[in-house]
Amino acid sequence: MSHNTIEINKAMDKFDGRHSVWLFGYGSLIYKADFPYIERRPASIEGWTRRFWQGSHDHRGTPEAPGRVATIVPQPGAVCHGMAYLVTPEEFAHLDHREKNGYLRLAIDIHFDEEHSEEGLVYIATADNAAFLGEATELDIAQHIAAAVGPSGPNAEYLLHLAQALRELGHHDEHVFTIERHLRQLRGG
Ligand code: BEZ
Repeated sequence: MSHNTIEINKAMDKFDGRHSVWLFGYGSLIYKADFPYIERRPASIEGWTRRFWQGSHDHRGTPEAPGRVATIVPQPGAVCHGMAYLVTPEEFAHLDHREKNGYLRLAIDIHFDEEHSEEGLVYIATADNAAFLGEATELDIAQHIAAAVGPSGPNAEYLLHLAQALRELGHHDEHVFTIERHLRQLRGG
């Protein structure tokens, strides 16, 4: 799959005609939404886990030196906590552009609490996209993140903001928190 996923995402018409759709955020969307939304609620998805396995050529790195940002990968029994936004479908054109570096829209059940879930969308970067970097140790990922910077700022800022936002939501993410610990050590505390 090429880097640019805008056209593939435009063809995703599952929610066409709806007034509003829930969007699940597990990365920067947890702490920053640069688009209008109707409502915002902590939420989770089941069977997926967050991993810093996606390369970023256009936000937290460059084509020559990509950063590492979050995607989700399937893991039976896992729960990925994040933030859901109720948006009008027009917002997806903006998000498709912002996330054109390998992320595809996927329909998914979004859980708000034990009794309440709704089908919505999540952006996911899979192993077949050209920017995918894949698995590495948390130490290697931290070293990679410590060195990367892109048009949206230092890669470390993304990781540290995400870790802080998860902490404020009251969720422990071992992968993210281990990278954070290594990163803080590399930066001297
Ligand atoms: C997120 O923050 O959940 C996210 C949104 C779009 C693409 C990748 C991640």
